[in-house]
Amino acid sequence: MTKPNNYVRIFDTTLRDGEQSPGATLTSPEKLEIARGLARLGVDIIEAGFPVASPDDFQGVYRIAQEVGNTPRGGEAGESPPPIICGLARATEADIDAAWEAVQPAASPRIHTFLATSPIHMEHKLGMSPEEVLARVAKMVAYAHALCADVEFSPEDAGRSQPAFLYRVLEAAIRAGATTLNIPDTVGYTTPDEFRDLIAGIMANVPGIEEVTVSVHCHNDLGLATANTLAGIMAGARQAEVTVNGLGERAGNTALEEVVMALHTRHPVYALETGIDTKQITRISHMISNYTGMPVQPNKAIVGANAFAHEAGIHQDGMLKNNNTYEIMLPATVGLSRSRLVLGKHSGRHALKTRLEELGFDLGEDELAEAFQRFKQVADKKKTITDADLEVLVEDQMYQAKQIYSLAGLQVACGTMGLPTATVRLHGPEGETYVQASVGTGPVDAAYKAIDDVLQVPNTLLEFSVNAVTEGIDAIGEVTVRLKPENGSIPRRTSPQSGRSHARSFGGYGADTDIIVASAKAYLSGLNKLIAAREYLEQEAEIVV
Ligand code: KIV
Ligand code: ZN
Repeated sequence: MTKPNNYVRIFDTTLRDGEQSPGATLTSPEKLEIARGLARLGVDIIEAGFPVASPDDFQGVYRIAQEVGNTPRGGEAGESPPPIICGLARATEADIDAAWEAVQPAASPRIHTFLATSPIHMEHKLGMSPEEVLARVAKMVAYAHALCADVEFSPEDAGRSQPAFLYRVLEAAIRAGATTLNIPDTVGYTTPDEFRDLIAGIMANVPGIEEVTVSVHCHNDLGLATANTLAGIMAGARQAEVTVNGLGERAGNTALEEVVMALHTRHPVYALETGIDTKQITRISHMISNYTGMPVQPNKAIVGANAFAHEAGIHQDGMLKNNNTYEIMLPATVGLSRSRLVLGKHSGRHALKTRLEELGFDLGEDELAEAFQRFKQVADKKKTITDADLEVLVEDQMYQAKQIYSLAGLQVACGTMGLPTATVRLHGPEGETYVQASVGTGPVDAAYKAIDDVLQVPNTLLEFSVNAVTEGIDAIGEVTVRLKPENGSIPRRTSPQSGRSHARSFGGYGADTDIIVASAKAYLSGLNKLIAAREYLEQEAEIVV
């Protein structure tokens, strides 16, 4: 569908480029849940994965295409069509076939194919001459176009490609039927001036360029991804490829929230629109961080815990007199509530339901009953419950509800006397209960050993981090962990760009006022992912599309 020239399409690649970052592995149900969140957020295109990578990747894209790709979106402005669902493919027939098969159930499917065009990539990675690259692009884009009307082509490492050759490749892609030309700065090498000139050169020198959408895709190796993306947009690009929280390999991709909020906050400068509901930004940021087990750095723009916090006395004084003194965006614009006292321990179910609805949670009766029970437990321990607390409580509830094995109880004894000991009670998928006790070097270690004794999933704990949701000694703690499965238990994954395979690691998340409980939940959810991945592989042969 054509869009006015002042509209920038947001192409989200959290589930593809973002998920490629080591440790951000997501299960198929998590990908589906995230895709639903991205659709609610209002992204125009969801790059749902790299279908040829594995049956699991294929299945993830297929399910998203089937469900999210066919569900119209509601909103203040009325119903809008489902997002375009895109699958990535190297420039080979097998990759393109897999991508097409995975996205074709969507109402608006897209195939995204790519081939490197920089001298260094052509010589050392592809072992192809420029003329061979040119011919392959024309052939593979035409092949994709014969399957799917919407084809995106990316000249990989465009940032280090020779412009004159790039123009020829892009022209060939247009002639072969590409509808979007995406210009990646694959290694995050360019500066904003260079990238703006690159896009301006393409706009001026590629015949037929006005018939297609020009897109930008920047990596953050020099911390310039957002600046480069905005420079490309200024030069005429009308699609930005981004990830939530800037997730991605190495230093990550351009952060969705940064580009969207720059266009929104500096509207007089850019005079450009997006379809993003900015009030959903905080929520989707939490979801991605929880599901990937990748915490957001506190000083991260827009979504970091400190992004709207004003510590210095002089700032606070100014803020009390007029918010605009130090705040260029209202926290509410990104869906962040500053409300302190929300509800107390005497608040009823109706008050909780109303507040949760105001925060954008639409819970069923049973979910609300559980949320109310959890709320009462926390209200008994914590004087003030803020919106941030409520959000974490419900997010944790939803996250834990998807677990195969869940924590039903935990008791620890620790301190300077005696051996740290933990007893855990777990519920299994058939409703069965397991009770196990273990000693360890501390309470977390003891709890993890007890869980290991029950589940027997050999792994290495790579990372463990604790974060308080709000200030105060009684704050809810969020714990994220990252686990590496034992060698060989889960197949390695191939990177679409380098063709190299790397071991996958899995994140886990838990929240509670008791950080030992939060730690146990986080570990258990990470293990659940390993179990799900293993079970999935065992069933793989039976999967039919
Ligand atoms: O960074 C890159 O070049 C990519 C391409 C596949 C578009 O991710
Ligand atoms: Zn990339």
